[in-house]
Amino acid sequence: MGHDTGRVTIFDTTLRDGEQAPGFTLDVAAKVAMARAIDALGVDVIEAGFPIASPADAEAVAAVSRELRRPVIAALARCRAQDVEEASRALAPAARSRLHIFLATSDLHLAQKLKMTREACLDAIVRSARLARTFTDDVEFSAEDATRSDRDFLCRVIEAAIGEGCTTINLPDTVGYATPDETREFFADVIGRVPNADRATFSAHCHDDLGLAVANSLAALQGGARQIECTINGIGERAGNAALEEIVMALKVRQNRLPYASCVHTPGLYQTSQLLANLTGEPVQANKAIVGRNAFAHEAGIHQDGVLKNPSTYEIMNPRDVGQPENQLVLGRHSGRHAVHKRCEALGAAVSPAELEEVYRAVITLGERRKSVTDADLRRIVERLRAGDAPAAHAPVPPEAVGYGHGV
Ligand code: KIV
Ligand code: ZN
Repeated sequence: MGHDTGRVTIFDTTLRDGEQAPGFTLDVAAKVAMARAIDALGVDVIEAGFPIASPADAEAVAAVSRELRRPVIAALARCRAQDVEEASRALAPAARSRLHIFLATSDLHLAQKLKMTREACLDAIVRSARLARTFTDDVEFSAEDATRSDRDFLCRVIEAAIGEGCTTINLPDTVGYATPDETREFFADVIGRVPNADRATFSAHCHDDLGLAVANSLAALQGGARQIECTINGIGERAGNAALEEIVMALKVRQNRLPYASCVHTPGLYQTSQLLANLTGEPVQANKAIVGRNAFAHEAGIHQDGVLKNPSTYEIMNPRDVGQPENQLVLGRHSGRHAVHKRCEALGAAVSPAELEEVYRAVITLGERRKSVTDADLRRIVERLRAGDAPAAHAPVPPEAVGYGHGV
């Protein structure tokens, strides 16, 4: 729509698609707290709920609409008058609101789930879009299961939705079945075929059933999409949605291959991820990209040595850019001398080369029994050594075990 600047609209659906997944339910107060944090990230659109689904959802949409004045607040509605009216009531207090209407367009969903013909589907979309436009100029239409829909029918539906004034067309990969090359081709083809496509922004909404949600979302941008729907920590139905933090950092770190920009203030990512984990009681996977506790942690000696010499040896982004603590050198049985030496220094207990050898061996021995060796453990090891106690049972020091080069 308009001149393409490569600016990507970030549509956060943590509070709708994310929250509807088992174990991720949030009450109204928690939704407002989370919405504030997402707002602080600077996202463009916050989908706050599905008002017809429950009174609590409607109340949460209204509360978020009252609280946040900057972002667009979206609410979901099926293509039914009652849904659209309920969503518009909940959005009434918003400074900027979006009605997000959806209906499945695949023959599988139409025949098996909705027992509806294609013509009835098209008619319901046209009527709902028309009704939605009586409440707001900002209407988004989602063709549920778009990636498995008949392409000709999908294009007809999209043309009709745009004709009724929908300004965002979302093409969800509802079941996470698509691959990246297919997604790129899909968006380029649909945008090329729909005659009035230039009057709408196309959007990707990818699920992660094959672990491809982020890759598919980025491929959608290459195919012409300019909105991505995503969630904090990638939460969402089944395997979840595309993770917001991964999308925005991919855009930031790989500008040379992905010349698109988001408005997200990335140093707030870690804190927002932690807030969601605390509010839902669902911890973030340790090795989760960007926000997992291991995303910038190094235990292997060779890696620790490299990172101490130059972080870019093993880190492609600065942890501060995502709000994570500086690279964390975890001491354990894989650690090297360089990291042990540095940590002793940082604790104000610098050790001589001879002491380092003893301390290093004690760390390795302790690391065999524990997940990691803490600062308190390290202090105790150094104190015992200096008090004349053997820090731990260990083999004699081999002559080659000198210098950091062997730090594995
Ligand atoms: O996955 C999906 O198709 C959805 C739509 C309702 C947007 O969540
Ligand atoms: Zn979804």
